[in-house]
Amino acid sequence: MIRLEAITKLYAGAPRPAVDRLDIEMAEGTTTALIGPSGCGKTTTLRMINRMIEPSDGRIFIDGTDVTGLDPVILRRRIGYVIQQIGLFPHQSVAENIATVPRLLGWPASRIAARVEELLALVGLDPARFRDAMPHRLSGGQRQRVGVARALAADPPVMLMDEPFGAIDPIAREKLQDEFKEILRRVSKTIVMVTHDLDEAMKMGDRVALLRDGRLVQYGSPDEILSEPADAFVEAFVGPDRALKRLSLRRVDDLLAPGEVIGAPGIASGATQREALARLIDGGSEVLNVRDAEGRTIGHVGREALLARPETRR
Ligand SMILES: Nc1ncnc2c1ncn2[C@@H]1O[C@H](COP(=O)(O)OP(=O)(O)O)[C@@H](O)[C@H]1O
Ligand SMILES: [Mg+2]
Repeated sequence: MIRLEAITKLYAGAPRPAVDRLDIEMAEGTTTALIGPSGCGKTTTLRMINRMIEPSDGRIFIDGTDVTGLDPVILRRRIGYVIQQIGLFPHQSVAENIATVPRLLGWPASRIAARVEELLALVGLDPARFRDAMPHRLSGGQRQRVGVARALAADPPVMLMDEPFGAIDPIAREKLQDEFKEILRRVSKTIVMVTHDLDEAMKMGDRVALLRDGRLVQYGSPDEILSEPADAFVEAFVGPDRALKRLSLRRVDDLLAPGEVIGAPGIASGATQREALARLIDGGSEVLNVRDAEGRTIGHVGREALLARPETRR
């Protein structure tokens, strides 16, 4: 668990704090997305957690320990850190990059080698092919996977990620987000992720913390932020299509009615309700059959159910 207590950063010469008495608590094993307009203090907040930036005031607790008094070098070995431009060491192989923290911790070579293999497999890179590759030979997405493997190397309880998909093109980004979500679910870490992309925050975050001018304006589940914006600023930030965004958080499977409707088009189980709605508009149909991975129809979803306000469903 991470707890920030009145954490504040006043940069030298700045007229007002970049982060202003921020109180926030992030539960163990969850992902919190820090979001807000450029300059609102996201990166500063993130970097204070591993003390790459020293707070001017306030305290930070990780699992009950006040880390504002710890040696930052030791602290950073216990916190994985992933950044947008990945920051792989260019003259080191993929394996050497991943081994950075285990080496610092003095692990024996055999344990390091085994861990590197395990992590490459976890992030979907064939160890035989990538172990000895140099970073410049990799695509952006592959480098980002190596960056995540490196951050996970010593199995830190906490991972900090600053715009981890920022340098990836939009199509690869969606796929990488899906895969990271699955990887992060399996490793069960407390993750703080900075993004300026609302859809990304909603997709990746169990909870979303929205900052403005260094202050927390709303903190809640994606659904809470979209359904009950705390003020006009949040409402403007999430945009006029928040009802559609909410549909992106829900699966067709939650609206399943029994039976197949002969002649209706199909949609895959697991698709979002937003995708289903788009499909209905496209196809001029009233109903979609929902199909499992084997192509079997497991039920159908109709227009009325999709258009009902979520509060009145179920
Ligand atoms: N090293 C620094 N020195 C002075 N001001 C800074 C420094 N880093 C960031 N700032 C200022 O602090 C504010 C918050 O910055 P930052 O945390 O990077 O925002 P975000 O990540 O949300 O875009 C901005 O106004 C920025 O200009
Ligand atoms: Mg930033």
